[in-house]
Amino acid sequence: MKHLLTLEQLSKEELLDILNLADQLKFEKKNKIPHPILKGKTLGMIFQKSSTRTRVSFEVGMHELGGQALFLSSRDLQIGRGEPIQDTARVLSRYLDGIMIRTFAQKEVEDLAKFGSIPVVNALTDYCHPCQVLADLMTIREFKGGYEGLKCVFIGDGNNMANSIIVGALKLGMKMSIASPKGYEVCEHIQDFAKNYPGMFEMTNDPMVAAKDADVIFTDVYASMGQEGEAKERLKAFKGFQVNRQLMNVAHKDCMVQHCLPAHREEEITNEIFEEHANEIFEEAENRLHAQKAVLVKLMS
Ligand code: CP
Ligand code: NVA
Repeated sequence: MKHLLTLEQLSKEELLDILNLADQLKFEKKNKIPHPILKGKTLGMIFQKSSTRTRVSFEVGMHELGGQALFLSSRDLQIGRGEPIQDTARVLSRYLDGIMIRTFAQKEVEDLAKFGSIPVVNALTDYCHPCQVLADLMTIREFKGGYEGLKCVFIGDGNNMANSIIVGALKLGMKMSIASPKGYEVCEHIQDFAKNYPGMFEMTNDPMVAAKDADVIFTDVYASMGQEGEAKERLKAFKGFQVNRQLMNVAHKDCMVQHCLPAHREEEITNEIFEEHANEIFEEAENRLHAQKAVLVKLMS
């Protein structure tokens, strides 16, 4: 593995390899066993969108691995004034040992990898959010003991989160069902990907159909970063697409709930369900740290 640009690029074995290392690093941290595997290495972190979890977990992660992280806001970089990604990639490759980027177009991440000469990690694009889903998969195994035979459900927008969850779940042998409003379904590329897993993928416009017998239910905001202008229209379109008591009643009794956060309570999820599942949701947030450290070790050590 040279970069982490999407989950599609990882084999099942590579995926499990990262998750196993993440478990090990979490264990070591809990037991105060230091692991300065990236001593002397520097990760650059380019942010073209806001972040709480991603920024802090990458920065702390590099520190715990013995290296350092540089926060590079695109507002301050010359990228913000139009310097092309090809040039930025070639310059930063001469200073850094790895780059993490959060941006809009997936092509920018791909170009950074293409023109640079150091590992690139996708920390969210409009297309996908692989780091988040590694943490989600780690959390599912922690709570459920494995993956095979579980039913994963996503309620809401066919967005970056949905795309990565579908890929990750199917690769690890889970069934995947997604319910989105008409016009907000996942893109054809992801639908084509799912065709490689016959009988394992279901797409519907009815949240109750998707949630039936679920073992894990995911949701995400109605309007993602960059879609603020569509917020009103989306609020209308997503009516009924909510993780609430009624929906949970058709899922398995011990069904988990996952949310990448930030959450909009009483929109995509009720406050009641959110708080009932808070320990799973905040474990998921914590696991961002461990999963990303595993990715950094795989790419930069
Ligand atoms: N889930 C997630 O990526 O959170 P941030 O936007 O806070 O980084
Ligand atoms: N879909 C959300 C995820 C945030 C972590 C967004 O892109 O804003």
